[in-house]
Amino acid sequence: MGWSLQSIASLTDSQFVQWSKLLEERTGIQLADQHRAMLQSQVSIRMRELGCTDYNQYFRAVTDGVQGRLEWTVLVDRLAVKETSFFRHRPSFELVRQYLARRLAQGTVADNLDLWSMGCATGEEPYSLAMMADTCFEQAQAERYYGITATDISMSALSTGRRGCYSARKIESLSDAERERYVHEVEPGVYQVDVSLRERICFTHGNLMAIQTMPPVKQDVIFCQNLLIYFRRWLRRDILNACVERLKPGGLLVVGLGEAPGWEHPKVRRVKAGQVQAYLRHDQQEQ
Ligand SMILES: C[S@@+](CC[C@H](N)C(=O)[O-])C[C@H]1O[C@@H](n2cnc3c(N)ncnc32)[C@H](O)[C@@H]1O
Repeated sequence: MGWSLQSIASLTDSQFVQWSKLLEERTGIQLADQHRAMLQSQVSIRMRELGCTDYNQYFRAVTDGVQGRLEWTVLVDRLAVKETSFFRHRPSFELVRQYLARRLAQGTVADNLDLWSMGCATGEEPYSLAMMADTCFEQAQAERYYGITATDISMSALSTGRRGCYSARKIESLSDAERERYVHEVEPGVYQVDVSLRERICFTHGNLMAIQTMPPVKQDVIFCQNLLIYFRRWLRRDILNACVERLKPGGLLVVGLGEAPGWEHPKVRRVKAGQVQAYLRHDQQEQ
């Protein structure tokens, strides 16, 4: 389809409801009325690219069969908020560092250490986990045996993550030591994460709405930050409950501070840490 410069009308109230319902049904992301302008601009930009001027026609295209599914993956890339940064919330990473250091010192890591970055966006979060795990293994003088799964709903974010290339501004939040050690300037102003970390991370598409159908690979650490805030409470609870079933006994679940208000689960206990919301799986049932 060619480009069209025809102007596109504003979303009506009922169209806004229709589009936000679709987004929530498929991704869990709940839009408030103040997101209307964002929804309208992202949908209409995409419609313009396709030469379409009618929201209802585009809605049918997005919800129709295999072609619709493909178009949806493009649109969802535009609608998801992918804001992230390296070590976005340092205290949470520091808690994971202490947890890994303790387990390595105690020798309680059975085989492989498995970490999961949920809603990994463009990769800064799983790379931060990798830098931290790498440092822990080095300090423990242990052979590195860890792997990180990084999942997201956005295909474009995942491919940025796989490349592992970031601007000078993006790497500002790394310490001098982290920059020196883990990123290399590959062209002027572009820094790539070291291959030794890139090969530890498996970036893969995963929609948390379908967490129950994701392979139940047990994890030592599940890191889930700045993601649940977009979901309704019942969905947050279901996702966190599913996370507990994916933790190894003794595993650690880290969520964004305040993102799981009032959530409790009989198999986990809250870690006492002021600025961090984290839970340890305490039961010793079969893995
Ligand atoms: C604001 S970013 C947070 C990134 C990172 N966790 C952080 O704290 O910096 C939220 C990410 O969640 C992803 N996301 C939203 N809904 C999702 C879903 N249903 N399943 C998987 N990922 C989702 C978005 O694509 C986006 O990359």
